Amino acid sequence: MTKVIRNGTIVTADRTWKADVLVQHGKIVAIGENLHADHEFDATGCYIMPGGIDPHTHLEMPFMGTYSADDFESGTRAALSGGTTMVVDFCLPSPGQSLLEALQMWDNKTSKACSDYSFHMAITWWGEQVFNEMAQVVDKGITSFKHFMAYKGALMVDDDEMYSSFKRCAELGALPLVHAENGDVVAQLSAKLLAEGNNGPEAHAYSRPPEVEGEATNRAIMIADMVGSPLYVVHTSCEQAHEAIRRARQKGMRVYGEPLIQHLVLDETEYFNKDWDHAARRVMSPPFRNKLHQDSLWAGLQAGSLQVVATDHCSFTTQQKRTGVGNFTKIPNGTGGLEDRMPVLWTKGVNTGRLTMNEFVAVTSTNIAKILNMYPKKGAIVEGADADLVVWDPKRKKTIAAKHQQSVIDYNVFEGIELTGLPRFVFTRGELAIQEHEIKANPGHGEFVAREPHAAVNRALSQWKEITAPRKVERTGIPATGV
Ligand code: URP
Ligand code: ZN
Ligand code: ZN
Ligand code: ZN
Repeated sequence: MTKVIRNGTIVTADRTWKADVLVQHGKIVAIGENLHADHEFDATGCYIMPGGIDPHTHLEMPFMGTYSADDFESGTRAALSGGTTMVVDFCLPSPGQSLLEALQMWDNKTSKACSDYSFHMAITWWGEQVFNEMAQVVDKGITSFKHFMAYKGALMVDDDEMYSSFKRCAELGALPLVHAENGDVVAQLSAKLLAEGNNGPEAHAYSRPPEVEGEATNRAIMIADMVGSPLYVVHTSCEQAHEAIRRARQKGMRVYGEPLIQHLVLDETEYFNKDWDHAARRVMSPPFRNKLHQDSLWAGLQAGSLQVVATDHCSFTTQQKRTGVGNFTKIPNGTGGLEDRMPVLWTKGVNTGRLTMNEFVAVTSTNIAKILNMYPKKGAIVEGADADLVVWDPKRKKTIAAKHQQSVIDYNVFEGIELTGLPRFVFTRGELAIQEHEIKANPGHGEFVAREPHAAVNRALSQWKEITAPRKVERTGIPATGV
């Protein structure tokens, strides 16, 4: 059975043109004028774009004594309803646990995924077993490794461990990722705030100032540079971190930065709300920042010094957040956003003139597919690519309301935002998943996307590292030791 999307304008990261898109067996098979098929979908007045890819989600994640509330079923359904057709989640081994055993546990969570997905593997401890298993993880198509520089006593790794792991990534042609915050300093600041009686959700923000993120970002960049690996910095939230990335890139380093839609549009005043629940629901790391930082992130997307917009979707119910009443360090860290990322970025970015439509596609899909080495299978509208497509109606309107969302939690941090620009149709590998407000997502349709190591950037970096490696000087005369 064939499908065709007709009468629309295709928008990709580098082109905008009028054409129809023909789909068969889950792939794009033709792009051109006046195509016909068994089933036809009308895209009049719409843009046909590559489906969004969210490179940063935590579905059903064990964290801070609980599990994040959205699983692969509700999470990917939420994603699809907002135009995101693939998520990349994190497999988190407990300290001491085999990476392969953890991967088995994460595989078991995905049977009801409605969209395609992939994984990053977290390095939460270091040893010979981790060193060896990293190669097997890469063989399974997981070619990116996450390092938490925060969450001391839980997920955090130190510089020694990061150096060893980044070096291993360079050898394997993999990509290291970092959550960049100085976990030691966060722990000290948190203890001080609590001792002074500062125990509300606003203290979470005080405990993680931008300097703490900037320092860690610089440190991770330095370590990646020493071993000759690229680096991907997740949830870049402030000018200090952006500045580090920008400077590194200007020096020729292969460093990528990922602002979240939350940090682009929500600010620190949320934590000063008199309602404890309101503030606690917005507790995430790094915290929301002020307008100057937001302007820096938008500028980074415009200038190309930041490449990707993600969500870090890690949702907790109000009940779960209340674990931290009286002690902000116990509030589970994380916010949702999977359903909202694309329409909020369109409304606040494209509709304001801050981003072009092509830049929108780049930062929500194509750049991610390229950085994670799955382009053009994903992130592209070309013959042979997966038919992960969103037909975007720039006139469709909605006001964000938790009561209508796909996520299982009882609130939405974007509540009340008025959107203009929403999907008319969303296809996941050719299957219709969303038709305006109708959800046709099919649990179990989603497949794991394996990725190849040794992306072009890795190959170039290791070649340059080899050419510029320290070499012993062969001398013509060596003086006697004087003994
Ligand atoms: O607060 C956050 N970001 N929660 C999810 C885990 C992480 O740090 O990414
Ligand atoms: Zn026809
Ligand atoms: Zn993080
Ligand atoms: Zn995260």
